Amino acid sequence: MRMNAAITGWGWHSPDRILNNKDLEKLVDTDDAWIRSRTGIRERRIAGPGDTTGSMCLHAARTALDRANLPANDLDLVICATTTPDHLLPATACLLQQRLGARHAGAFDLNAACSGFIYGVTVASQFIQTGTYRRILIVSGETLSRFTNYHDRNTCVLFGDGAAAVILEATPQKAGVLSTVLGSRGDVEGYLSIEAGGSAQPATADTVATGAHLVRMRGNEIFKMAVRCMAVAAHEALDQAGLTLDDIDHVIPHQANSRIITATQQAIGVPPSKVYVNVEKHGNTGASSVPIALGEMLENQPIRVGDNLLMVAFGGGMTWAAAVLRWADVAAIRRERSLKLSA
Ligand SMILES: CC(C)(COP(=O)(O)OP(=O)(O)OC[C@H]1O[C@@H](n2cnc3c(N)ncnc32)[C@H](O)[C@@H]1OP(=O)(O)O)[C@@H](O)C(=O)NCCC(=O)NCCS
Repeated sequence: MRMNAAITGWGWHSPDRILNNKDLEKLVDTDDAWIRSRTGIRERRIAGPGDTTGSMCLHAARTALDRANLPANDLDLVICATTTPDHLLPATACLLQQRLGARHAGAFDLNAACSGFIYGVTVASQFIQTGTYRRILIVSGETLSRFTNYHDRNTCVLFGDGAAAVILEATPQKAGVLSTVLGSRGDVEGYLSIEAGGSAQPATADTVATGAHLVRMRGNEIFKMAVRCMAVAAHEALDQAGLTLDDIDHVIPHQANSRIITATQQAIGVPPSKVYVNVEKHGNTGASSVPIALGEMLENQPIRVGDNLLMVAFGGGMTWAAAVLRWADVAAIRRERSLKLSA
């Protein structure tokens, strides 16, 4: 029997500290009105001294496991989507596997920048649809504040920190991930990069002094490409799923900038009422942006069995991704699972 991959648990976590636009006025030559009108961002959450990508992911993953009513021991795989891992080695996913007690799970990190969560959903759904695995944790986390240049007004107003997770689980229901689309253009990698700290430019006193280990960006070019690629990917994902825009109940776009979201919503051709936006409170949280928005939406808006969701993202690489999911009868999946596990 062909299995589908449905979300059965979700959770998100934001650090306590708030960096608002007035705070940024003290750091660079900017102002609240400019930031709001050009980006829609009012404030973003910033990791405290004790927070890391791994620690924030741990909170989000535990909430997702609790919601799914699933012991970590029953996970087959942990995928951590991040551009800002705790270390180059080991993978943050391995730290999470141990801290969660997911003793039977493989674990790896995945770097597709802001598209990372949808890339993770794509990989995980393949494992489930082929019957290899049944229960996978996909967790996205970013501590972008540690890689942001707070002397550069072009970038420091945009980014925030946070984490979010989902449990993707096998089900015979005709629901879950219906289609996914991935894309990449490495020829324009310079639009958004952290040049130093890897093997091409190992960290030295000089790279630190010149800020080469911090995010550099060409915002204007990204803006245009992001809108174009997300609109095309969204339509490809809809076609693959055999759905039209009218079938879609909720759109969860990458939360980079409210102007990009509006332009993408118009380019896709979907009404604004269907699009979930929370960029004003979080800024751009990289790979965590889509799943934080998804988690918030699930907490704030009723979702019905059979609702169709479209997720779409764009990020460094450059990368882009879209996915169409149908909301499953989650209670039934949990019930069937507990019957099988107790049998
Ligand atoms: C960064 C971004 C907000 C800039 O908005 P924009 O309307 O494109 O603005 P521009 O880059 O054309 O800059 C206009 C002016 O504002 C200035 N400016 C840039 N940041 C500013 C800030 N924080 N405060 C005040 N002025 C600022 C620029 O220096 C420029 O000044 P100039 O005309 O004297 O040269 C926008 O391009 C953007 O959001 N791009 C996408 C970035 C992104 O999402 N990156 C992550 C991808 S996942």
